[in-house]
Amino acid sequence: MSETINYGPLHNLIGTWTGDKGLDIAPEPEGEERNPYYETITFSECNDVTNAEEQKLIFIQYRQVVRRKSTDKVFHDESGYWMWEPDSDKISHSFSIPRGICVLAEGSYKTDSNESVLFVESGHNDQWPITQSPFMINKAKTTGFQRKFVVDKNKLKYTQIMNLEIYGREFEHKDQNELTLIK
Ligand code: HEM
Repeated sequence: MSETINYGPLHNLIGTWTGDKGLDIAPEPEGEERNPYYETITFSECNDVTNAEEQKLIFIQYRQVVRRKSTDKVFHDESGYWMWEPDSDKISHSFSIPRGICVLAEGSYKTDSNESVLFVESGHNDQWPITQSPFMINKAKTTGFQRKFVVDKNKLKYTQIMNLEIYGREFEHKDQNELTLIK
């Protein structure tokens, strides 16, 4: 079954990762809050699909659970997929978060002998949209999303930017962390 699948640039992500150097910058009505955090991300191998008998995609699934250091409470919960299209050698990414937001992002990757860099973005054109609830569109709209992963053997560093329109202004909601592969 899955042992025969070549996951290409997604292969090095498969497994469970933890990291406690997270820093979140989130909007507040009068400014911003900076939240140190720790998290676990589990990437699981899955399968492949063929769309319209034409487009083959290989995919892995993940779940990310993030806790605020100051309270140990989960304050971000995300799940979705990373996909690789062998024919075009492009990657894409889809996920949802329980604020009423679904993201479909396109991207590319580079690999050399030391590390892989995966970059995806959404909201920069109509074909790769961010879908959100009416409440979020009115009150806390996400207009852009960029995520960069750098994977070096058992280390994963990421940075991400969510462009928001909230509290009557534009805000760059940002996150970064460094994780280690634990199994
Ligand atoms: C490590 C990942 C993330 C963390 C730790 C995080 C954390 C936060 C925090 C602390 C807030 C402020 C409101 C609150 O206290 O709940 C917030 C707001 C928000 N986040 Fe995130 N976030 C993350 C990722 C994302 C992603 C990937 C998206 C969308 C693609 C997103 C979209 C939003 C939006 C739209 C808001 C505004 C809602 C509000 O402030 O009431 N976040 N986030």
